[in-house]
Amino acid sequence: MVPKVRKAVFPAAGLGTRFLPATKAQPKEMLPLVDKPLIQYGVEEAIRSGIQNIIIVTGRGKSAIEDHFDVSFELEHLLESRNKMETLAIVRDISDMINVAYVRQKEALGLGHAVLRARELVGREPLAVVLSDDVIYSEVPCLRQLLDVYEFFGASVLALMEVPSDNISAYGVVEAEPVSHNGEEDRVFRIRNLVEKPKPSEAPSNLAIIGRYVLTPEIFDSIEAIEPGSGGEIQLTDALKHLLCSRPIYGYRFQGTRYDAGDKLGFLKATVEFALRRKDLGGEFREYLKGLEL
Ligand code: UTP
Repeated sequence: MVPKVRKAVFPAAGLGTRFLPATKAQPKEMLPLVDKPLIQYGVEEAIRSGIQNIIIVTGRGKSAIEDHFDVSFELEHLLESRNKMETLAIVRDISDMINVAYVRQKEALGLGHAVLRARELVGREPLAVVLSDDVIYSEVPCLRQLLDVYEFFGASVLALMEVPSDNISAYGVVEAEPVSHNGEEDRVFRIRNLVEKPKPSEAPSNLAIIGRYVLTPEIFDSIEAIEPGSGGEIQLTDALKHLLCSRPIYGYRFQGTRYDAGDKLGFLKATVEFALRRKDLGGEFREYLKGLEL
């Protein structure tokens, strides 16, 4: 029996330099996409995937994230007294649905280093890792898609996406072979090697790792074992490479659309597309866009 994944770690302690000055005093995970902070999309994805225990790794701007997922008595009282019950439900829903714990990464020493901060809270259990600046729109939540593969193989699973060669050096890239699974030949991959931010000429494939992972607990030993890598940071990709020496790792080319909302252009694309999909805003917003002289 494969152990159930009950906890999701949300690293949110990066410096967000691509989004300055907006991220000078608040984490990029609090930037709103239409009307919800990025991190809430990730948390809702975890909930829809069956995970309610959320561990957030914070750096600066900790209080904004904590306050967001906490009860706001003043605000709730005000909404109640004005009989704004729908808005009240929106404000309450998210904090009612999850157990949140916070752990601090004092210095932004890399994604691997951030994940390692959650070790005590995770214990010897498998975990999900969600980078909430990767916002994913899909019918079946991306994390659920990964969990299904994890539950079948009982091994770590990374979300993969095809990326054009001129963008590949922004990602961790895998060397992998397809594995036939559930009648599909090109979704599940057995990973053979991983390279962090390769030059296009040195990329082992066009399959990049994006911000959703299901990991077995041995990943923590691997993170502890590695030295700083690309950019002088403790990279999760390097730890995965270390883990690969002793455990199998799979990749899943997930179904859905991923937006890099930690990047200005990616954030704008996500904002427009999420707004267009909204029942309450989409119609009017579409008309507005059509009227623009482009
Ligand atoms: P990014 O690679 O996007 O880095 O981190 P960043 O520092 O946040 O942003 P830029 O590139 O300077 O604009 C990927 C994820 O890992 C977290 C970030 O918060 C983000 O969710 N992270 C990164 C940490 O929690 N700690 C770190 O030391 C680095």
